This record gives sequence, C-alpha cells and structure tokens, in this order.
Amino acid sequence: MSLTAIVLAAGKGTRMKSDLPKVLHKVNGIPMIEKILREVRKTPAGKIVLVLGHGADLVGEVAKKHENITTVLQKEQLGTGHAVLQAKAHFGDPGGDVMILYGDTPLLRNETLTAFYETFRASGAGACVMTAVVENPFGYGRVLTKGDEITSIVEEKDAAPEQKAVREINAGVYCFKTADLASALDNITNDNEKKEYYLTDAIGLLGKAGKKVVACRLDDPAEVMGINSKVELALAAKVLRKRKNRSLMEQGVLMIDPDAAYVEEDVSVGRDTLLWPGVLLQGRAALGANCEIIGNTRIIDSTVGDHVRIESSVIEQSVVENGVTIGPFAHLRPLSHLKENVHIGNFVETKKSTLEKGVKSGHLTYLGDAHIGENTNIGAGTITCNYDGTKKNPTTIGKNAFIGSDSILVAPVAIGDGAYIGAGSVITKQVPENALSVERNKQLIKTNWRKKENEGN
Ligand code: UD1
Ligand code: CA
Repeated sequence: MSLTAIVLAAGKGTRMKSDLPKVLHKVNGIPMIEKILREVRKTPAGKIVLVLGHGADLVGEVAKKHENITTVLQKEQLGTGHAVLQAKAHFGDPGGDVMILYGDTPLLRNETLTAFYETFRASGAGACVMTAVVENPFGYGRVLTKGDEITSIVEEKDAAPEQKAVREINAGVYCFKTADLASALDNITNDNEKKEYYLTDAIGLLGKAGKKVVACRLDDPAEVMGINSKVELALAAKVLRKRKNRSLMEQGVLMIDPDAAYVEEDVSVGRDTLLWPGVLLQGRAALGANCEIIGNTRIIDSTVGDHVRIESSVIEQSVVENGVTIGPFAHLRPLSHLKENVHIGNFVETKKSTLEKGVKSGHLTYLGDAHIGENTNIGAGTITCNYDGTKKNPTTIGKNAFIGSDSILVAPVAIGDGAYIGAGSVITKQVPENALSVERNKQLIKTNWRKKENEGN
C-alpha cells in the first residue's frame, strides 16, 4: 500500500482581497498551509506533493521547512483539476493511492484524514470524496448521489436551482486509486461557467466509466470549512484557538475564560498556570507550571519558568526564570534574561540585559545592554544611557549594589560589588566595590530666607 498526498496551493485567493497568497494567511499564529502540511505529515501518506503557483517562492519557503515535500509549479491557475495534473509525474506507484487536499481547509485533523483513507481502502471504490451536510452550502460543490454512490459534483456557479438546494457538500478531500485518477484527469474539460478544469469533474467521469465512487460523510462539518475570505479566516482561527485552549486545559492549564485567552498553535504552558482574560501568548512562547499571567500581557518567543507572576506586560524573545515577578506595565525587549526571583515593576524596560538572581527594579527604569549582579537594588528612575549616538555601550553593575533613585549611568561604565550610588547621580566613571559615589550639587540651605524676603518687600 502506497499513498501519495497532493496539496493544492497555487490559487491566488482573489476573494481574500489581499496581496499575500491565500494559504500564507495565518490561523492561530501559523500559515494555513503550514497547518495543513503538519496534519498531512501525521497521516499514512509516504510522500507529499505541494502544488505551487501564485506566490510560489513565498509558499515554497514554508514547504522547505519540512523534509521530503516535493513541490511542483502550476504556472497558470486553470483550475483544481489542472493543478493536480501538474503533479502527475509524482503520483507514485500506479497500483497505489492518491489523496488530494486543498491548501485552504486548515481545520482538518490528521485523525480525520487517516480515518477517511481507511474508509476508502475498505470500500474498494475507485474514489472516495469527503462530504458533510451543512446548514448553508453556499459556495461549495454540491454532491449528487444515487443510492450510496456519487454520480457527480456540481459547483455553485454551475448548479441548477434544485441542485443548489442540496446540502451535502464536497469538502475538497479525495482519495483515488492512482490509475483511475490518472485516466479521469486526461478527460476533464473546462466546459463550465468559470472556464476551469475542475478536479470535481474527475468524480463524474469515473462514475460514467462504471467505477464506484463513494462519499465519506463527516459527522462534524466544522472541520471541512474552506477559507475563501477574511471573515472565514477569522472563524477558522477561532476554532483552532478553541481546540488549542481545550487541549491545554486537558493538560492541566487553568483559564478564567478560555474564549478570551489567545494562545497560538506552538505555545506550551505548564500545569496549574493560570491565564486571565486578555492574555496573548505567541510564537514559540513556553511557560512553566504554577504561573499567573494577568491582564493585557503579551508573551512572544520567550521562555518563562515556574511560579512566575506577570501582570499587564510585554515580553519579547526573553528568558524569565523561576519565581520572577513582572509588572504591571513592564516591557522586556529582546534578549532580556531575568534569573530566579528577580522583580521588575511598574514602567520598567529591559533590553539585552541579564539580571542575576534576586535583582529588584521596582519602578520607572531603563536597563539596556546591562549586566546586573545578584541581589542588587535598582532605584526608581534609574536609566542606563547605553547609546552615545553611534553605538550601544555596556553597563556592568556588581552584586549587592544599591543604585539610588534617578541615577543616570552613562555607558560604558562599571559599578563594583556592594557599591552605593547616591540618588540623582550622573555616573560616568567606574565605581569601585563597596564605594559610595554621589554626583550632585551640594544642597544649599538659606535659613529663614522666606521671612527675610518678605521683610524686603
Ligand atoms: C473547491 C471545490 C468545491 C469544494 C470546495 C471545498 C473544485 C472545482 N471545487 O471550490 O467543490 O466544495 O473547494 O472547499 O475543486 N487551486 C490551485 N490551482 C488552481 C485553482 C485552485 O492550486 O488552478 C487551489 C487553491 O489554491 C485552493 C484549492 O485549490 O487551495 C481550492 O481552490 P478554490 O478556488 O478555493 O476552490 P473552491 O471554489 O473553494
Ligand atoms: Ca476554497
């Protein structure tokens, strides 16, 4: 038994009204075509052929990330049947099977595809079409049957009124005996409303040739939704989000309101971590166990340890270790590394900085290109002046140091272990360990000044 899967992704997706090829639009964080390829890879298909056309370079990039995907080019988009013909040289063993899918049905699950293939094998038919009975069949091909066999599929634009009333639709997933597909494809024409070579016509042709064509009807039509517009894209993304959140909760994640937690496809979250509404976890964010993520927090491509509490903050490409507390209103920009039990508070921004264990920076601070030693306290309003107008310079602060409020650390600069910086200082020179450094004018006091001034008037 050999199965080749062919995925069609050459169409422009005119109805999307977009410059981006349709299949590159994202559903819950990953391109539609990526989602489909991942699912197909989990089926028994030994070989996958992707038909490219519109935006072939860009779509091909997604395919390149996977091993063993053959791509073929459909230069002109003359229809789904024509697209499959372009892959003919790659159908594989003539005694084998071919499964065909479209690149715009991202809700299909590999379990469904595998079950579909098994049904086809068991049926002994020349072809099997995945179908569903839906409330509103508008836009889909209608499946016309006689007994339990399919006689033909008629497209919306070509359908007579009584055919339009049929609610069993073509999901756009097919299994064929390879030899039967090859012969039917040679005979399809573009004699229809859209002047396209329809793959669906191969079904009618096989029936006419006396081959058995059966329907495999899905109980849950939600999976077969084809994405043709941005409205449908949003609906599909919502379904995937729901699935993702459900699977996370099944693994032990807590969600106050699963409809209001936005967790993208490749994100992982540990047990008993609690997600409040408005949380956005993106890209390859990986969160540990027993965390609490509150309010409008966005975490992207970052690693977060266990027992971390984050409120209303943005974390990008950073590492946050166990026991850290962040926010509200903090911003970790790329390459920030907060080690165990660090505290970052209100309006603190970090960038390309390492904060060793126990560092505290509670308020209104910018730490860029800095290395800060264990248990150092950064006072409110501290700024590392890392940029001199041409390049970025580093700031190094030792452990157990104390940086007084409103200090300006002009980089490159180093402050030793245990050093103490007086509030309001502008530090430009190295401060040795355990030293006190204050840089500010002496406070002037004129006693009874107000009284004398008044007397003068
Ligand atoms: C198609 C089916 C329809 C089915 C529906 C399910 C045909 C003729 N119609 O309609 O019966 O109910 O899908 O979602 O097959 N493509 C190419 N090359 C082309 C044309 C299309 O690669 O020349 C690709 C597109 O990129 C897309 C897929 O084929 O991924 C389907 O094309 P689309 O135009 O969306 O077909 P539908 O009108 O939705
Ligand atoms: Ca479609």
